[in-house]
Amino acid sequence: MERVRITASHDYDVLIGPGLLARAGAEIAKVVKPCKAAIITDDTVRILYGEMVVDSLRAAGFEPEIWAFPHGERQKTMPTLSAALEWLGSIELSRSDLVVALGGGVPGDLAGFAAAVYNRGTRFVQIPTTLLAAVDSSVGGKTAVDLAAGKNMAGAFHQPEIVLCDTDVIRALPAELKRDGLAEMLKYGVLCDPELFAALHTSAWENRMEQVIARCVAIKRDYVAGDEQDNGKRQFLNLGHTFGHAVELCSGFTLTHGQGVGVGMVMAAKAAGIDPTPIEDACLACGLPIRVPYSAGQLAAAALHDKKRRGGKITLALPEAVGKCYLKTVSIEELPAYFQKATGETA
Ligand SMILES: NC(=O)c1ccc[n+]([C@@H]2O[C@H](COP(=O)([O-])OP(=O)(O)OC[C@H]3O[C@@H](n4cnc5c(N)ncnc54)[C@H](O)[C@@H]3O)[C@@H](O)[C@H]2O)c1
Ligand SMILES: [Zn+2]
Repeated sequence: MERVRITASHDYDVLIGPGLLARAGAEIAKVVKPCKAAIITDDTVRILYGEMVVDSLRAAGFEPEIWAFPHGERQKTMPTLSAALEWLGSIELSRSDLVVALGGGVPGDLAGFAAAVYNRGTRFVQIPTTLLAAVDSSVGGKTAVDLAAGKNMAGAFHQPEIVLCDTDVIRALPAELKRDGLAEMLKYGVLCDPELFAALHTSAWENRMEQVIARCVAIKRDYVAGDEQDNGKRQFLNLGHTFGHAVELCSGFTLTHGQGVGVGMVMAAKAAGIDPTPIEDACLACGLPIRVPYSAGQLAAAALHDKKRRGGKITLALPEAVGKCYLKTVSIEELPAYFQKATGETA
């Protein structure tokens, strides 16, 4: 088992290894005294793993309760948050009790936000069940729901007590769900780790799954450290995301976030004026797209809805080479030129 220590407003561990779901109660009991444990998950994950987590918590002396909402990003809304909070109230969860976020990034973000505001802040633990949640959304303490005006527009920073990533669960994921996580992992490679980047070109990385996920978690931790509120270094993590969000939006969300990030990194390389071939090859090897049929104009218009825009400017993370990136703040007026380079509409 791997253990990554996260330093934030309070310190906690991310544990990565096989069998952690069945041992969840015992591991959580090491950091939280047994109490009522309110598991928030989605319907799919509840069927797959709900009972295992309930049993494990009960065996460790917790009083587990479980509540599930229909799966999918479209449920990551204020009405679902409200229903979750009302459920926490109905089971009389107190401030000294615990919320357990079980699932991918959607239950993670929603349950984390519910924990952040229930009783003005309740402790919570994260049990990520997708690769994306394991390497990205469960690390860093950002929680949120979507508003009509945009994704993740209502939220809070709230750190968990512990994160438990069961590699047996990740191993059993369908290929499409692995692919979305791989896009974020490639991103970490392009940001700062050519060895990690190279390792992801074949599924052999899965033979060292614990170490590879731990490496990704540690990279995210290091970009988040000292910048919990997302003003400086954390902006590197947006690599591929300004372009990627625009792609997702133009596709009407028929392309997934991971697919957007994959092609978004290729576009970032082109916008930066470097040879995109290494990133294209990696994306192809991971089953991610490297080209999309939208014009620079369509994409730039979509990007202007991106919440990363600050006072007429957008900060882009751009690669210099695989393993080295830089931040470039550009004005709204300059942005279309970057999209033209990114789509190859200009040299
Ligand atoms: N908080 C952050 O810092 C942060 C970072 C990145 C992404 N996110 C958020 O994460 C979300 C995306 O995460 P996601 O892709 O995990 O979405 P998700 O939670 O919707 O999971 C994707 C699908 O996989 C299913 N699923 C989950 N675990 C499974 C398993 N073990 N086996 C089979 N199916 C399973 C879910 O039911 C769902 O249908 C987005 O809402 C995004 O905004 C947050
Ligand atoms: Zn992402």
